[in-house]
Amino acid sequence: MSVHKEIKRVTTHVLSEMKLRGEKIAMLTAYDYSMAKLVDQAGIDIILVGDSASNVMAGNITTLPITLDQMIYHGTSVVKAVNRALVVVDMPFGTCSGNPLESLNAAIRIMKETGADALKIEGGKEIITDIRKIIDAGIPVMGHLGLMPQSINKYGTYTVRAKENEEAKKLIDDAKLLEEAGCFAIVLEKIPAALGKTVAKELRIPVIGIGAGGGVDGQVLVIHDMLGITQEFSPRFLRRYHNLAAEIKGAVGNYVQDVKARSFPNENEQY
Ligand code: KIV
Repeated sequence: MSVHKEIKRVTTHVLSEMKLRGEKIAMLTAYDYSMAKLVDQAGIDIILVGDSASNVMAGNITTLPITLDQMIYHGTSVVKAVNRALVVVDMPFGTCSGNPLESLNAAIRIMKETGADALKIEGGKEIITDIRKIIDAGIPVMGHLGLMPQSINKYGTYTVRAKENEEAKKLIDDAKLLEEAGCFAIVLEKIPAALGKTVAKELRIPVIGIGAGGGVDGQVLVIHDMLGITQEFSPRFLRRYHNLAAEIKGAVGNYVQDVKARSFPNENEQY
């Protein structure tokens, strides 16, 4: 029997047991009540209220503009819907960047106001003091290394990270530092599969990949991408499980036609 099927509520402890047993962890984003409810009922292990809400919900080009208040709004909506999955909320750009007390205050606001289970924070050594402070306050933290979208203006490109030895070595060192600091898991984004596998082997905590190959302990995707709602975003790592854009446009088109043709509402659809 898998840990996944036995448990009523996913906790950080359950996730570490899943890694021990070699059971893969499935994680998806959600940003609102209705979608989170469906995703939770479908058996997902972790729901990430990602700052990708900045892109897919608010229409921004990067994740940078989303605010702490907006992340709290999304987190609160998701938490209300979820009965089983672990809910993790992203700390948005600028809220965890080298001032541990400020970072702790932002982290406490998210935890208190949303009721989420944990936070995700982009970055390694440079913000390790902030991360330690947050974990010391009793808040579970998931790290995020590799491609870090909040640093896009530093990289200047969304291409694969850590292909060269120096960056790969820094990523491994950062991952170990995050584990030592007490992170319960780490996300690795868009790095070579071999590096993802190495990090997952060297760490005791679960390593969740997005474009980090199959050798890690679990996978995460943005729900709008995997359902085919977003159409313009097609990285190699993305598998689309549906073409919801076509379904939605088809249904809306039919509704428009019916209204124009006066066939909606019919006799049975009125009082
Ligand atoms: O914000 C987000 O959706 C993320 C995932 C891509 C891991 O950080």
